[in-house]
Amino acid sequence: MSNLALIMAAGQGTRMKSETPKVLHKILDVPLVRYVISAAQAAGCERTLVVTGHQREAVEATLPDSVEIVHQPERIGTANTVLVAEEALRGAEGKLVVLSGDVPLLRPETITALMEACNGVATCVLTAHVDDPTGYGRILRNEYGAISGIVEEKDATDEQRLITEINTGIYCFELEGLFDRLRKIGNDNVQQEYYLTDIVQVCLDEEASVGSITVSDASETLGVNSRVQLAAATSVMQRRINEAWMMAGVTMTAPDLCWIAPDVTLEPDTMLLPMTFLSGATTIASGSVIGPDTRIVDSSIGADSLVDSSIVLSSQVGPHANLGPRAYLRPGCVLDSNVKIGTSVELKGTHVGEGSKIPHLSYIGDAEVGAGVNIGAASVTCNYDGEKKSRTVIGDGAFIGSDTMLVAPVTVGAHSVVGAASAITKDVPEGALAVERNDQTIVEGWVERHRGDSARKEAR
Ligand code: UD1
Ligand code: CA
Repeated sequence: MSNLALIMAAGQGTRMKSETPKVLHKILDVPLVRYVISAAQAAGCERTLVVTGHQREAVEATLPDSVEIVHQPERIGTANTVLVAEEALRGAEGKLVVLSGDVPLLRPETITALMEACNGVATCVLTAHVDDPTGYGRILRNEYGAISGIVEEKDATDEQRLITEINTGIYCFELEGLFDRLRKIGNDNVQQEYYLTDIVQVCLDEEASVGSITVSDASETLGVNSRVQLAAATSVMQRRINEAWMMAGVTMTAPDLCWIAPDVTLEPDTMLLPMTFLSGATTIASGSVIGPDTRIVDSSIGADSLVDSSIVLSSQVGPHANLGPRAYLRPGCVLDSNVKIGTSVELKGTHVGEGSKIPHLSYIGDAEVGAGVNIGAASVTCNYDGEKKSRTVIGDGAFIGSDTMLVAPVTVGAHSVVGAASAITKDVPEGALAVERNDQTIVEGWVERHRGDSARKEAR
């Protein structure tokens, strides 16, 4: 006997008014369907099947290898969505939890509770009490309080629409007999769809047992059908994630203004200032202060670092770093410890050794920068000649004067000095001075001769 999960993700999501399939719309940079998969797996489901259809290639490209894909050729309703998995589930025994790819906030504990409630019950429905049931299927109950049916809003009478107990679209079924029951469901309704919700009636007709449990936190079952609901779900997830990190020792001065994706890891005593966006597989080590106004994607930040008003993409930053304001680390940067990347400095594909400083207004790309290097303001690695990219190598302890152009490929030796405003096109040997600029010209009395006396007086 096993617990299996099936996630319905074949629909188009018409109400999103989007070219993107609904389940690929994102909360905190992660597609909706990924949240549902994570919850199913965290609840201990041994197999997770995802049913795809509309734009299936795009949806399937985002699915992890740990799920099995089932194709629904036509989007003719949720009963058919489960029925198409019959072949994939042939021979399987136990329970099947059915989840919706557009209900991303469901917690694993709720799935577990539903599976437990399904012991010895053919169909168990997860319901919720909500203030505004608009758009959801309503739960019908008989005089004893037992479920007697589910009616979709479009098919409901005015009286039924007043019911505030809704179908969350999440169910647990005994696999035994499930597919025979699904085949009995017709499409005689307003939308002419095969409704999975009609399985309740099929069970009752067969005198098979139907049960339900009601989720205590209705926000878990928020379905995302529109952009308004997407924003609402984002707020709930944002708050849930932020509260968990605060409980784990992270300070947020304004949690409503921090957005942390689910796969981010923060060590205790990290501090997040307003307008911080952390996404992908980002990790922030203890003692770091991130923000304000900072975006970090798929990167690691070492302990006791400062990242102020900056962007860090797919890079590794060592401990005691000082980045920003407005540092821009593009993918492929590796910074050793105690590095300073200052005001309006852009880095790409560059390794910076321990204790090196690039404090102001520079572009350093495709470079190997040694330890203890200082790169003066407004210096540039000219890494692109219009056809190919070339590397710049700067040895340990080198001093690069301000406004230096390093025309790659070029190597600046360790402990050498490059004079300010030089265009360096040839390698600089270790310990040497390289200067490339014309001698300064002084023309005495030039202003008086060229502009006359009045201009000179005005200038005074
Ligand atoms: C469904 C329920 C409704 C419930 C609500 C909860 C039905 C008939 N209604 O309505 O009672 O209150 O969820 O959120 O089930 N899908 C497919 N293939 C299809 C049709 C849909 O994979 O042929 C998928 C969709 O991608 C979506 C899920 O099934 O992930 C639910 O479909 P949707 O059209 O959003 O149903 P609702 O109208 O929200
Ligand atoms: Ca829905």
